[in-house]
Amino acid sequence: MKVKKAVVPVAGLGTRFLPATKAIPKEMLTVVDRPTIQYIVEEVVASGIKEVVLVTSAGKAAIENHFDYSFELETYLAQKGKFDLLREVRNISRLINVVSVRQKEPLGLGHAVMVSETVVGNEPFVVVLGDDLVDSDVPCVYQMLKVFERLDESIVAVQKVPLKEAHRYGIVEGEEIEPGVYRIERLIEKPAPGTARSDLAIIGRYCLRPEVYGCLRRTLPGIGGEIQLTDALDTLRKERALYAYEFNGRRFDAGDKLGYLQATVTFALEHQEVGGPFKAFLKGLAKNF
Ligand code: UTP
Repeated sequence: MKVKKAVVPVAGLGTRFLPATKAIPKEMLTVVDRPTIQYIVEEVVASGIKEVVLVTSAGKAAIENHFDYSFELETYLAQKGKFDLLREVRNISRLINVVSVRQKEPLGLGHAVMVSETVVGNEPFVVVLGDDLVDSDVPCVYQMLKVFERLDESIVAVQKVPLKEAHRYGIVEGEEIEPGVYRIERLIEKPAPGTARSDLAIIGRYCLRPEVYGCLRRTLPGIGGEIQLTDALDTLRKERALYAYEFNGRRFDAGDKLGYLQATVTFALEHQEVGGPFKAFLKGLAKNF
């Protein structure tokens, strides 16, 4: 079945980025000239998906507004003859159809995905985390959809990480059945330091069959007292199958200060307008190191 919807959970509190995120959703923090959530939506659209289900919470209205029409702003830009900016602003709201569902309490990523069931129903869907950016030639979601079309089973995107950092991720163990595709035999959310037996870490991209909702309903709170998507995926793996896909590209956790800075530098260097001068600036800086 064709994947038509992307679930984008944005209901987290963003505590790693306080105080910046006290009044502004972390997904609205700007990387060069766009909020991180816009990069996510552009990736989803470039992958052929036009419906986005935002899982929101109190204080996240700015995200919904960003993808809505802004009558006052558009009228102002038209009156001033600023047609390039007008086109840019209109394109944002034309990109997609957004539906929002509320996660009333931050009970974890698994819980956030669970509340999307009322909108998604009995169809496969992708989950894209609102603060996880991927820089790649082919959109990461598109790469995953191609694998999903072949296997017809749920897929998580993974990247290799140094073993000493494995405790910060959901880790998968499995057998490589074709280059970059693994049949998952075990999943562990944030294994205790030094215990991970695999360096394949889950990143914020999933392509899931609807059976995952049943698994989520049966999932008890895990690490951190939260309902973990990884735990539900372990049930899904036992009841059906689950694959890991090592995507082509570079992933940044833009919800983390260092990851955010790395994303900013990477996307700034690729930016049409500022890329050249920014590179010259960095070269000048590097001379002093
Ligand atoms: P994170 O752990 O990165 O987000 O969750 P967070 O909780 O906002 O961040 P910190 O750790 O406090 O800084 C990964 C994704 O899951 C969403 C977040 O919005 C983020 O996109 N999430 C997490 C929810 O939607 N609901 C939750 O209850 C938890």
